[in-house]
Amino acid sequence: MTTALSATAARHLLLNMTPNGSLGDDGVFVVRSGDGPYVHDEDGTRYIDGLSGLYCCQLGYSYADEIAEAAGKQLRELCFSPLWSASAHPAAIELAERLAGIVPAGIEHTFFSSGGAEAVETAWKIARRFHTLRGEPGRTKAISRRGAYHGLTLGALSFTDDPGLIEPYGPPAVETRFVSNTNRNGLPPEMANDSMFTAHLLAEVESVILAEGPETIAMLIAEPVQNRGGCITPPAGYWPGLRALADRYGFLLVADEVITGFGRLGEWFGGDRYDARPDIVTVAKGITAGYAPMGATLVGARVAEVINRPGAVLNHGYTFGGHPLSAAIALRTLEIMERDKVLDNVRGLQGGLASGMAALADLPIVADIRGAGFFHAVELVGDQEDGGFSDAARKALVVDLIPRRLREAGLLARVYNRAAPLLQIAPPLISDRPLLDRIVEIIADTLDEASQALAR
Ligand SMILES: Cc1ncc(COP(=O)(O)O)c(C=O)c1O
Repeated sequence: MTTALSATAARHLLLNMTPNGSLGDDGVFVVRSGDGPYVHDEDGTRYIDGLSGLYCCQLGYSYADEIAEAAGKQLRELCFSPLWSASAHPAAIELAERLAGIVPAGIEHTFFSSGGAEAVETAWKIARRFHTLRGEPGRTKAISRRGAYHGLTLGALSFTDDPGLIEPYGPPAVETRFVSNTNRNGLPPEMANDSMFTAHLLAEVESVILAEGPETIAMLIAEPVQNRGGCITPPAGYWPGLRALADRYGFLLVADEVITGFGRLGEWFGGDRYDARPDIVTVAKGITAGYAPMGATLVGARVAEVINRPGAVLNHGYTFGGHPLSAAIALRTLEIMERDKVLDNVRGLQGGLASGMAALADLPIVADIRGAGFFHAVELVGDQEDGGFSDAARKALVVDLIPRRLREAGLLARVYNRAAPLLQIAPPLISDRPLLDRIVEIIADTLDEASQALAR
């Protein structure tokens, strides 16, 4: 529906990843307020926020009083002070100490930034710094995975595998080789076996390392569960295998936990579920549960030892990295997550959500169901052989019918058509069982209708 705000937005805002010039006056969905796991639009219509904002709002929207209290206290005490030139402030110091208590073993240092892409670029610079200080400046290349998204600033974009996003901006800043992600949908049946699939994937990574020259590889970056392509979980042994390759060939292993961190998979860090043992972890989004912008790059002891050598300068920084307001809010967020047993909530309910989603597999439009924790995707049937659907019909569903029906039923979820057509959910981590059941029910009804529309 048309609202004055939507029209004003179309006139004055440049929205991210949006065909701004084609937005009509009613083309912008204006979210006015939130409570619990819900948001409200301009008309006051309520929606389940099935995507936690953009994988940010772990706590939903009802902790404003507590967060505002922490924010107010911080702002009255100290509104700003940088983490620059040997100067720091208590909130960032306390937060770095707090993070060291929950990150994977051996990680004790934090470099703060303002968001995920900055955290990823910091990981790259720290990896380069590490190798250069150790006398290996020739390690100038990265390995990332097909279809992965690691941010859109020019550096982070190098690790994002999407020609449509990269090519308009010239050659990537960092030379990157892409290896297979861990999606086994459509692969030969023997890949259903974890150990065969893992061996196959690791052999590919190793062959890329050897082809490029191990002495040229600075880091491998991967998400514990890859978001782009639809909640792609790793087979057993995959992360320990990456660890072994990193140790054998001397590159750093970076776990990008911008989405999977802070409880999304039922652990503080998604990598903990898969025995990831990375050298560097990147986080953002959920670290403040969306109440303030923040990113962070968490650095393992082995790396810190080198970059912190006496006299070595970390020549990198962001004015607002570790802003006192964001740091105070992150500290309160972690306190609330612990006090209200948010991880336990995910652990207790994830099995029910997974089986609810798995039950959708029988719908003709469903090709695959994947995910872990409160993070799931349905891959929709992708070609005509799988049911006689034309590409145009499928696209129409993904662009129009499915998102429209979900919204009409009161659910915000992600529906997109990059590489494969997907429907994805990442609900707030405070969601209860009836809410999760309702989400699954809405998806089931919508995909049932979409299946019938395609069959016609
Ligand atoms: C895995 C991953 N890394 C990095 C980023 C970039 O984060 P930001 O948008 O905060 O720059 C994203 C954003 O969605 C992400 O999903």
